[in-house]
Amino acid sequence: MTDNLKPLSTATLTLEDKSYSLPTLMGVEGEKSIDISKLRAQTGYITLDEGYGNTGACESSITYIDGEKGILRYRGYPIEELAEHSRFTEVAYLLLHGELPTVDQLNLFSKRLNESSIIHEDMHHFFNGFPRGSHPMGILATMVASLSTFYPVPDVLDEATEIQIVANLVSQVRTIAAFSYKKSIGEPLVYPSIKYRYVRNFLNMMFSSPVRDYQLDDDIVRAIDMFLILHADHEQNCSTSSVRTAGSSMANVYAVTSAGISALWGPRHGGANQEVIQMLEQIHAEGGDGTEFINQAKDKNSGRRLMGFGHRVYKNFDPRAKVLKKQCDKLLNKPGMNDPLLEIAMRLEEIALKDDYFISRKLYPNVDFYSGLILRAAGIPTNMFTVLFAIGRMPGWLAHWREMLHGKQVTITRPRQMYVGETERHFVDIENR
Ligand code: ACO
Repeated sequence: MTDNLKPLSTATLTLEDKSYSLPTLMGVEGEKSIDISKLRAQTGYITLDEGYGNTGACESSITYIDGEKGILRYRGYPIEELAEHSRFTEVAYLLLHGELPTVDQLNLFSKRLNESSIIHEDMHHFFNGFPRGSHPMGILATMVASLSTFYPVPDVLDEATEIQIVANLVSQVRTIAAFSYKKSIGEPLVYPSIKYRYVRNFLNMMFSSPVRDYQLDDDIVRAIDMFLILHADHEQNCSTSSVRTAGSSMANVYAVTSAGISALWGPRHGGANQEVIQMLEQIHAEGGDGTEFINQAKDKNSGRRLMGFGHRVYKNFDPRAKVLKKQCDKLLNKPGMNDPLLEIAMRLEEIALKDDYFISRKLYPNVDFYSGLILRAAGIPTNMFTVLFAIGRMPGWLAHWREMLHGKQVTITRPRQMYVGETERHFVDIENR
């Protein structure tokens, strides 16, 4: 525990006529917790909290969220200010190092990213081994884990090596993402170029070819940059918790971030932006106004949910969704950028925000509701959406990995369980079963 947590009065827990005192603590934003780290040793009890909605797994100084008030801050800076005034590489630096960079620090960081953007030439063969139509998230998770075989991590990490590895990952995840797309469409890989900065470099690797130059549109570059900023961290979400869990075993950072990518893949987490577009396409194809889909989403037996609505933490609104909605309107109102799915999305939003089912459950549009429309406008294919999320989230995962590594001690993650299986029984020979 660090000195940043302020001790409050103790809590009293009564179990089987015995009372126990438990320390209570307050974080810098007034969040309160009960310290149960000695609970089992003192009482024989454990806590039961499926999904960990009431469990603080660590102390962290990276990101602050107040889900009730719709607040999200990276290292103290409101997400709205960062989205408006900053760039993704600057935000990545902020998350990784704790402070906004000076001009010199940012230039050095950008230089590092540029110089580490190439992946080992022999890794190119791997792309040929994946079957046609492989989901790019599967390719990304595999390729990121396999970086560890080309860039082995020493047993003892000094500061300079650690900073280099972090830059490698922030940069190479973008190269791997673009290569996996090129492979999937059967086009030659386009190498990263020293000419471009982070987002331009990525878009150029995705969309240019030896026979076709890609015209970089400033508004699209800005929208993708903003998308990456808004996805860069979100405290102890499913993928970041996976990164911390895998990292707590002291596995190498490539394996650890690959675990994060795998966790992000699911439709209830990073995969939701892909599902939002599929849902909008389906409504568009069926020609309805979305009412039928909403009715199905409200029916538990249908197995459907209104994708892009609801959030584990935000029970008011998702501040990232507000920023992206504005960006989405701006981008899709550009001449030649009309997307019929935007109209459907707006109609769904309008219906859902007036519907008692969604109001009573505090289900509001989340960041994924709009992000897919922005990615579509940029020409990113739907199956690459979650990959873009992973590129954005990489600095956040790495910031959490570094914070854990440099904390007072690394405690291996090992939750307990309530066993509900068979009690002891004895082996029966196969002929007597
Ligand atoms: N559509 C319809 N009903 C919903 C939805 C939805 N999108 N989300 C939640 N509900 C309902 C549930 O059925 C449940 O109803 P009940 O109380 O009658 O049983 C109630 O709302 C609470 O649902 P939970 O799943 O307990 O809510 P939780 O906060 O744990 O889940 C989650 C959050 C997983 C994001 C959920 O809202 C969801 O599945 N949304 C759609 C997927 C999505 O958009 N994910 C993106 C998350 S943001 C991100 O990862 C960047």
